[in-house]
Amino acid sequence: MKREYIKNVLSKEEIGSEITVCGWIRTRRDSKGGFSFIELNDGSCFRNLQIIAEASLVNYESDVVKLYPGCSVKITGTVVKSQGTEQPLELRANSLKVLGFCDPEIYPLQKQRISFEKLREEAHLRARTNSFGAIARLRNDLAFSTHKFFQERGFLYLHSPIITCSDCEGAGEMFQVTTLDLEKLPKTEKGNIDYTQDFFGRKANLTVSGQLEGETYACALGNIYTFGPTFRAENSNTRRHLAEFWMIEPEMAFADINDNADLAEDYIRYLMKSVLKNSEEDLKFFDNRISKGLIDNLCRIEASTFKRITYTEAISILEKSGEKFEFPVQWGIDLQSEHERYLTENYFKGPVIVMNYPKDIKAFYMRINDDGKTVAAMDVLVPGVGEIIGGSQREERLEIIEEKIKNMGQNIKDFWWYLDLRRFGSVPHSGFGLGFERMVQFCSGMNNIRDVIPYPRTPKSADF
Ligand code: 4AD
Ligand code: MG
Repeated sequence: MKREYIKNVLSKEEIGSEITVCGWIRTRRDSKGGFSFIELNDGSCFRNLQIIAEASLVNYESDVVKLYPGCSVKITGTVVKSQGTEQPLELRANSLKVLGFCDPEIYPLQKQRISFEKLREEAHLRARTNSFGAIARLRNDLAFSTHKFFQERGFLYLHSPIITCSDCEGAGEMFQVTTLDLEKLPKTEKGNIDYTQDFFGRKANLTVSGQLEGETYACALGNIYTFGPTFRAENSNTRRHLAEFWMIEPEMAFADINDNADLAEDYIRYLMKSVLKNSEEDLKFFDNRISKGLIDNLCRIEASTFKRITYTEAISILEKSGEKFEFPVQWGIDLQSEHERYLTENYFKGPVIVMNYPKDIKAFYMRINDDGKTVAAMDVLVPGVGEIIGGSQREERLEIIEEKIKNMGQNIKDFWWYLDLRRFGSVPHSGFGLGFERMVQFCSGMNNIRDVIPYPRTPKSADF
């Protein structure tokens, strides 16, 4: 008999039907009346299915009374109305097959409540807990909704490369990819490492962003988006930084910074709407146990128009705030997490888009504004997380971008292909990157980004 997902069993409520379910035991309780209650979870939804295993089952004494949390079973039974008030239905087992026992003495998930920190050491098992099961389903929902959002708007899904020879953000935070023997590096006559002998014949890295390649396709196909892993070797041990994270990067031809901000807003609102509809049960859990008021917040954001301010206005708000910030505020500084959070949490109490940052603190590809001092950049800040999106209108004027690359101390020859976009039929274009894990953090209220990705990679940590 084909197995039914517990999610479907609970939603269809087909009383009287005979079905088979498979899953892992969450709890077993023996009743005086000579039967056991089993809470079974198969990951298809947050809720468990309650099983009634009567003592008349042939293997009741040999198997059922030895079932502990973590055991895997296959159960065939009849769906019946529940006697209790906790759930509408339960499954009366006709046969129960143990697929795998689980020793309660050594199973790490025995204890009632284990801290998230401790669970990171059991990352291979943590998906079996309520919190991490819910996170996994929420991630899936957000990923699927992302594709739906862009596909419905005619954006083409682009697979940008993971290995690259360019540093998009120019921050030098790249992981190097090499097959050279690190113990015996080949040297040139001048004594430098001879990368011509490396796998790619030159120095290569893991990408920090698919943007530059994304631009080349947008400047041929119109609107594209990437959705892939990105890597940053920044030594940041914070609750919102990972060394490996997923990013969604749309890029639009014939679009300016305001079109870009419109898209970012629409996208975030769309995600709110999707998770409120599709992940309702998991969100209720997060609201109850992780972050009170979460669902109200998501609803509010789904219905809101985001505030838009310039960087200069943001600085003035921060200066007038009377707050004591760790990093002093002054025109020209990069906004720190504490500044972003003041703006979105205390001042605007909602999402805010900050635009037109000083050119010196932003990447080379951003378009210089007419004032000559700022660039057409935009960061979207949200409560609890701070920066969730970074984007800009791109510099489409050849001479200006060449000048910027030179001023950065870079060789414009390295950017020959990128500059060709400005040489051959250049068009205004814009795009942004949304940090996927920061979005999962935002929708779940989880405090630490390490707990919203299956296997977090951070400085000094790449277990599993
Ligand atoms: O602001 P960033 O660095 O922008 C870019 O990479 C652009 N190339 C995007 C574009 O215009 N196509 O990064 C974009 C977003 C940030 O707003 C943040 O949400 C996330 O990526 N992010 C990180 N998330 C987790 N861990 C890190 N270390 C992150 N660094 C950036
Ligand atoms: Mg940024």
